[in-house]
Amino acid sequence: MADLILGQVLTFTGDPFALGPDAARHISHGGVLVDGGRIVAIGDGAALKAAHPRAQITDYGTRLISAGFIDAHVHYPQTAIIASWGKRLIDWLNTYTFPEEMRFADADYARAVADRYCDLTLAHGTTSFCSYATIHPASVDAIFGAAQTRGQRIWSGKTCMDRNAPEALRDTAQTAYDDSKALLAKWHGVDRLSYVITPRFSPTSTPDQLAALGGLWGENPGCLMQTHLSEQTDEIAWVKSLFPAARDYLDTYETFGLLGKGGLYGHSIHLTEREKSRLKEIDASLIHCPTSNTFIGSGMFDMGGLKAAGHRVGLATDTGGGSSFSMLRTMASAYEVGQLRGRALHPAELWWLATAGSAASLHAADRIGTLAPGMEADLVIVDLASTPAIAQATTRAEDIWQAIFPTIMMGDDRAIHATWVMGKPVTK
Ligand code: GUN
Ligand code: ZN
Repeated sequence: MADLILGQVLTFTGDPFALGPDAARHISHGGVLVDGGRIVAIGDGAALKAAHPRAQITDYGTRLISAGFIDAHVHYPQTAIIASWGKRLIDWLNTYTFPEEMRFADADYARAVADRYCDLTLAHGTTSFCSYATIHPASVDAIFGAAQTRGQRIWSGKTCMDRNAPEALRDTAQTAYDDSKALLAKWHGVDRLSYVITPRFSPTSTPDQLAALGGLWGENPGCLMQTHLSEQTDEIAWVKSLFPAARDYLDTYETFGLLGKGGLYGHSIHLTEREKSRLKEIDASLIHCPTSNTFIGSGMFDMGGLKAAGHRVGLATDTGGGSSFSMLRTMASAYEVGQLRGRALHPAELWWLATAGSAASLHAADRIGTLAPGMEADLVIVDLASTPAIAQATTRAEDIWQAIFPTIMMGDDRAIHATWVMGKPVTK
């Protein structure tokens, strides 16, 4: 039986960075008709009700119905070490991250964290995410299994490292290739799961390993590839010392077949002009992780400049370098970083980044990220007055953007009234 979900509907028909807020479609008393896991229609609530009298109605009143949030870069194995104090990138990896990732040698531990992580995403209105696993193949099985049980569309892959990491977290060029290939064959395209080839970043891979993974990507061009790029200046100097012949950081990927349109380059903060023009030419995805960039002290992503130049950009928490699981909190942080760079991002731009923009960065905009007939019915229902502080700030709102912005800036999982995955409400 069809479901008719009533509330204020917000979605996008284009990119507000290019078209302004008119790229959004807002229906005050709207409805979303869902059947068989997909959206059948969106429009005026009363009209949909009259046209589909047998549909089962869920009335969310004045709450906002949006496409579910999409987190384009996370490390689910870092769930337990989120908010770890006092270190910058390299020390943070060595002090907190690598010891925690070693625990994933235990498949039971991996499954427990994967379940916890997926539950946290849904509680925060995040229906899809793209996650690094650890070096252990069982950590990939764990996150795909957890997402499959919940029906979520996700991307994940085994993190490959064969140098500059503890012995227990190192593979080789050959085992990285073999394990990634086997996991790809096992999971890619199963239900809503996609494998993503995952060299952690060039400091932790030898040229041989980068070449092996570049080869695997060449054999599987339909897969995405994720890595990190130009996050901190110390890291960039380290890359330069490890790859003295490279023109720049991006070149360490390009040389080994790891630059492509399906490439997801996390952070991309301190880019050179050559890197920017190559990334643009290729139409690669830059993934902005603002809470991480402020928390680890990495720098300020140039959202205004990169979007104006036409780059493909997604938004992400970077859990647990990022300091929140919430895409609302992440939008707030993107706004603050934008302000520090002199570009106030409009609420339409922020909401687009967390939904349709991230979907486009993952090359999945034809399935998720917007509300339209044929799209997969992943929804978040947002309470725009979830705390007394937010409620009082919205009382004078004169349009949807003024009504939404306090929730963007001050909202968290308390604002998530409900989450729907593939046309079904998630039971808590
Ligand atoms: N660079 C390489 N690995 C990582 C990681 O786990 N988190 C962040 N933020 N940056 C990285
Ligand atoms: Zn990361």
